[in-house]
Amino acid sequence: MKRRAFLRQGIASSALLFQLRVNGVEAESSTPIPLKNIVQGKGLYVGAQATKGQLSREDLGEFVANNFNMLTAGLELKWAALRPTPATFDFGGADWMVDFAAKKSMRFHGHNLCWNVSNPKWFSTVLNPSNSRRMLEEHITTVAKRYSGRVDAWDVVNEPIDLRSPRPDGLHTGPWLDMLGPEYIDIAFHAAAAADPGAIRVLNIYQVEQDQDRSDFVRRATIDHLKEWLKRGVPIQAIGLQSHIGTSLPLASESRDQFVRKVRDMGLEVMITELDVNDSHLVDTASANDRDKIVAGYYYDYLTDVVPLGKTKRITFWTVTDKFNWIDAGSSQGPGRHRPGLLDTDMRPKPVYDAVAKALEHLVST
Ligand code: G3I
Repeated sequence: MKRRAFLRQGIASSALLFQLRVNGVEAESSTPIPLKNIVQGKGLYVGAQATKGQLSREDLGEFVANNFNMLTAGLELKWAALRPTPATFDFGGADWMVDFAAKKSMRFHGHNLCWNVSNPKWFSTVLNPSNSRRMLEEHITTVAKRYSGRVDAWDVVNEPIDLRSPRPDGLHTGPWLDMLGPEYIDIAFHAAAAADPGAIRVLNIYQVEQDQDRSDFVRRATIDHLKEWLKRGVPIQAIGLQSHIGTSLPLASESRDQFVRKVRDMGLEVMITELDVNDSHLVDTASANDRDKIVAGYYYDYLTDVVPLGKTKRITFWTVTDKFNWIDAGSSQGPGRHRPGLLDTDMRPKPVYDAVAKALEHLVST
């Protein structure tokens, strides 16, 4: 069923279904089927991104554990959280997240081991060309070994290629590229493979999912780099399509489809690692109800288009609730202006939840 048909049929049922509040207020009709139950035994895994603070709330912790069988930590495994100083590690938040997943029988997706963004402040004064290889290898070895056997897959390098890059090769600028040149990617993947050979090694990419300006440049650069990396034995096993998509752009893209096919043809697994839908361009012009329907349609279409194309087995949702959405984070107006999540700011399921459930049902039945 495509989006138009989904919008005609699906939203009507969701209106009834979602009289239910997640944490217990009486249901008008039946309780929504937990998302993980839809895919159970079908070779599909559904994940959620959350933080320790969010999972510590009873309502959200329960919702995540009941609905998902994978977990990604939004902050706790990033360098900024793990490395208060150049010489020390703070595993408090990361251990808590990995333990939460284990207790709830969820797989754990490690995010991330190396990124040119969101690093500790001390990078700018401490990292230099002569210590950075050792720092990168030590970090990856220590972290990946600590969680060996408990992490299903690692985003080894996050966002290596960027459409704003001034470089002809499209590589994302930042401290690792500055210090080590393009070889930082080889170094990171080899260190991850040595430290935890059992975890799937993911190159987590963005800006290829819709036709933004220069998306074709990013797609071409990614394929060209992948050919080179694989030829020289860089142990990349999967591509993570982040999938922060937006309603300002059409969803269908022949160029995206070709890209996904090429990645598959290289023998790489394709994961969806950070799916959510940004409704920015509708915020001032459409009602919340209308936006919810449009956003739900984007989720439905994206999942039913891309999952079969990529033969995708792992799908992670980045924004569980509008209350903790990254698009509004830091905004003076607070959460709720954007509506990218499965739940609203009061933790009530939105039409997006229904759309995702229907898309998953469709995917496991075909
Ligand atoms: O918790 C502090 C708070 O105490 C403080 O007052 C506030 C001031 O800015 O900052 C808060 O921390 C912020 C944190 O999010 C929690 O909201 C950090 O500054 C901010 O940098 C951090 O942003 C995260 C961002 O990655 C950078 O790490 C977002 O939550 C997270 O959703 C976002 O996730 C990224 C993926 O890692 C990679 N792909 C894109 C995706 C979305 O941007």
